[in-house]
Amino acid sequence: MNSSIELIKTENLTKHFTVKKGLFGEKALIRAVEDVNIQIYENMVFSVVGESGSGKSTLSRLILKLLEPTSGRIYFKGSDISELDKEGLKSFRRAVQVVFQDPFASLNPRQSIFSQIAEPLKIHKLASKKELKDRVAQLLESVGLKPEHMYRYPHEFSGGQRQRICIARALSVMPELIVADEPLSSLDVSIQAQILNLLTELKEKRNLSFLFISHDLNVVRYFSDYVAVMYAGCIVEEASAKALFENPLHPYTRVLIESAPSIEKMNTPRRPLTQGQQDGDANQGCPFYTRCPEALGICKDERPELLNKGNRKVACFRV
Ligand SMILES: Nc1ncnc2c1ncn2[C@@H]1O[C@H](COP(=O)(O)OP(=O)(O)O)[C@@H](O)[C@H]1O
Ligand SMILES: [Mg+2]
Repeated sequence: MNSSIELIKTENLTKHFTVKKGLFGEKALIRAVEDVNIQIYENMVFSVVGESGSGKSTLSRLILKLLEPTSGRIYFKGSDISELDKEGLKSFRRAVQVVFQDPFASLNPRQSIFSQIAEPLKIHKLASKKELKDRVAQLLESVGLKPEHMYRYPHEFSGGQRQRICIARALSVMPELIVADEPLSSLDVSIQAQILNLLTELKEKRNLSFLFISHDLNVVRYFSDYVAVMYAGCIVEEASAKALFENPLHPYTRVLIESAPSIEKMNTPRRPLTQGQQDGDANQGCPFYTRCPEALGICKDERPELLNKGNRKVACFRV
């Protein structure tokens, strides 16, 4: 896509879960992530959008190496992350940081903010004991918090402030990629804009890439460089944010964009989307077939491949 350094590349990345279902505990297969091939470059916000249950968090947890894939590979700067030695794994753990949806659950209630931000600095030997206090103070300032509050505990902060603390902790080790899984979803709408502004400022000031997961299209449009649309574990469309929102090609992307609330649509009732299907045997045909307003006969029997279309990609027989 461009000449900058490739941070993450996935190859046929797949994660299936087996769950017990029904009265007799019959096993069902959930295809949470199905054959995903993405590339995330330096200095880029790569967003993944899709309804709840489409596989976004599973994809992000695979990339964070918090989950083992069923099949497929993940490369970080060219190295397969399943084959890293101890040193390699440690530098991967430093370079790829995470900010979760719920900042309260991500912080230890019994530790001061100072010790939680200082901990990764100590683990990765990025500051000496006497530098720690200054470093934590700088980090708090860089996310808009008061350094003099560093000895306070998580419950003494608001939700937005706690998310700032999580961001400071992620930044402490000078990461190259921040995986942010719905980082605004647990916050009040008025606070969401402030955190989004902070993320935008960090993206512009630092050499940072984001894997940004969200179901909020307005946020994604504002913050992203490149967007992948996920449906039932599959990426159905990928394009620059501008191209995707100005000219969505996949019928699912169009449904998503049309159903997103926007200022203009505030006064018209929102058309609800039904839940995405997770059929164990849905390996045949297009995953969106049953809901697609434009489906053809072939869509039922054959799965469309994600194919290049100029400098974007789409998986649809119609396009
Ligand atoms: N640990 C798990 N065990 C079983 N099923 C799971 C597990 N994690 C996720 N799933 C299932 O995988 C699918 C994708 O989930 P998820 O990745 O959380 O989607 P999203 O983040 O887009 O809402 C869902 O059907 C979900 O129920
Ligand atoms: Mg999720």
